Amino acid sequence: MSTNLLTLEGVHTHIGAYHILHGVDLAVPRGQLTMLLGRNGAGKTTTLRTIMGLWHASQGRVGFGQDKGVDITAMQTPQIAGLGIAYVPENMGIFSDLTVKENMLLAARGAKNAAQIDDTRLKWIFKLFPAVEKFWNHPAGKLSGGQKQMLAVSRAIVEPRELLLIDEPSKGLAPVMINNMIDAFAELKRSGVTILLVEQNINFAQRLGDSVAVMDNGRVVHSGSMAAFSEDAQLQQSLLGLAL
Ligand SMILES: Nc1ncnc2c1ncn2[C@@H]1O[C@H](COP(=O)(O)OP(=O)(O)O)[C@@H](O)[C@H]1O
Ligand SMILES: [Mg+2]
Repeated sequence: MSTNLLTLEGVHTHIGAYHILHGVDLAVPRGQLTMLLGRNGAGKTTTLRTIMGLWHASQGRVGFGQDKGVDITAMQTPQIAGLGIAYVPENMGIFSDLTVKENMLLAARGAKNAAQIDDTRLKWIFKLFPAVEKFWNHPAGKLSGGQKQMLAVSRAIVEPRELLLIDEPSKGLAPVMINNMIDAFAELKRSGVTILLVEQNINFAQRLGDSVAVMDNGRVVHSGSMAAFSEDAQLQQSLLGLAL
């Protein structure tokens, strides 16, 4: 049995007057890639934002680390980031007017020039995402959707991280780009990073996921191995309204 790096227990989140998460229970095994699936509006993005401290749980607990971990439920986002959690939001948070290099430097806390991004790490990122190197001195706004997504993930890993939270990275991408992304995420996983990835592309989810959690109406309604979920067409149909 693997240990869990992130544990949510009975997490409720309110956004203003709206009660969005209704008791989310979720465990993310260390070193694995966990797919967070579910229909539109199920609460996937709200769950990532709650983990990152961009929304705060009104009830329940978010723990980071082994054995339920450190209680991060009430921590502020910079403090949570400082523990080694990075978040790639759906809109990617890229500065279009800045170059790829400048975008990377902004992500490297305190770095003033490229020499201050760890060289070995930068080379590793270039290998994972060749477009980042190729367009290093170009405005990020000129990148394609897929290249922007790769830049967004590169920014998240410019410093070593234990846990990556990534929201729908394949959205709107061409199949060839999705294949590149699958390879890059597989390599990231091999490097030891734990990943919680929200996905709508079922093919992507199936090829990359070790574990799966499915949300509906602000709760996790199924969790288990991706292999078992992949084989259960009836379960997929009932939870997602489609089969893999
Ligand atoms: N800022 C917000 N204000 C009010 N309701 C929101 C806000 N963000 C999300 N919601 C609502 O919360 C529910 C879950 O949204 P979300 O977490 O974005 O779902 P998903 O990512 O699974 O599509 C939806 O019903 C959505 O309309
Ligand atoms: Mg979403």
